Amino acid sequence: MLAETKSTILSDEIKQVQSEIDSLFDAILPVPDDTSARLVEAMRYAAIGGGKRVRPLLVVSTASLFGVARDAALRAGAAIEAIHVYSLIHDDLPCMDNDDLRHGKPTLHKVYDEATAVLAGDALHALAFEILADDETSEDPFTRSELILTLGKSSGMHGMAGGQMMDMVADEEGVEYDLHTITRLQQLKTGALLAASVEMGAILGKVAPQGRAHLRAYARDIGLAFQIADDLLDVEGDVAKAGKALRKDNEQGKQTFVTLMGVDKAREQARALVDQAVLRLASYGPEADILRALARFIVERDR
Ligand code: IPE
Ligand code: IPE
Ligand code: MG
Ligand code: MG
Ligand code: MG
Repeated sequence: MLAETKSTILSDEIKQVQSEIDSLFDAILPVPDDTSARLVEAMRYAAIGGGKRVRPLLVVSTASLFGVARDAALRAGAAIEAIHVYSLIHDDLPCMDNDDLRHGKPTLHKVYDEATAVLAGDALHALAFEILADDETSEDPFTRSELILTLGKSSGMHGMAGGQMMDMVADEEGVEYDLHTITRLQQLKTGALLAASVEMGAILGKVAPQGRAHLRAYARDIGLAFQIADDLLDVEGDVAKAGKALRKDNEQGKQTFVTLMGVDKAREQARALVDQAVLRLASYGPEADILRALARFIVERDR
């Protein structure tokens, strides 16, 4: 297929998943007529609109390889996205990256306050597991429990939160990470949730763990490439397109592939990872074209 046709298919698919995830959050988060309204309004502010929805798209595209019903895949995607959105709310707080702009609008703690932002993050975290534990996601309790275990592991100490801790420690004076440690940091803070997205698509498809090796390798490669691309965007991106503050990582003492090896080598590394990720899908036919295009998009994106 022509490269241009492929990228049009991908951008249509991104728009479709964005609108489906928005509708799902809208349905799951009705604003109650009581004193918790503020919390739900804040959750809606952060969760509806704005994000690229790469993680749900990974779930849906992987699940579709195995004929999973789209509604089930979207619910699993919304669960991961709830974790992602919570991680961004907390990441933007003054005690972490101290950012004022997210998804092209003021960050949650700027519109509400820090306490509301912490609590909206907490509630989105809980919501993720509520969505997965509901039998609307899967009628099979074993599948539900595997989904919950996978998302729990990738969000916690051996996943996103663990990586965010390493990222915060890196800001301290005198701490210097080598390539191995930066790779580990990126794999945890960003790679883990992206890997979980692919894994959860395979779990819904009832693929046995030993049959997931190629997909896992693909996910690991794009996970790393994704954070390198984010770090490149921080240096070279356009704020209007990215919808978040840029040129901050260096000033905040972040340690990334870009600070370690420079822009050109980091870009080379990201592209090599994507080439490798695409090769991992060699056993699939055109049904995996969205996953291939998504891998390319991850490093070429401008937001
Ligand atoms: C940004 O993630 C934070 C990282 C983990 C690098 P995304 O680029 O996926 O955020 P969205 O698309 O704005 O939600
Ligand atoms: C954050 O990484 C990763 C998360 C787990 C939220 P960054 O701090 O680089 O993400 P941005 O640049 O603020 O989106
Ligand atoms: Mg951060
Ligand atoms: Mg940040
Ligand atoms: Mg960043």
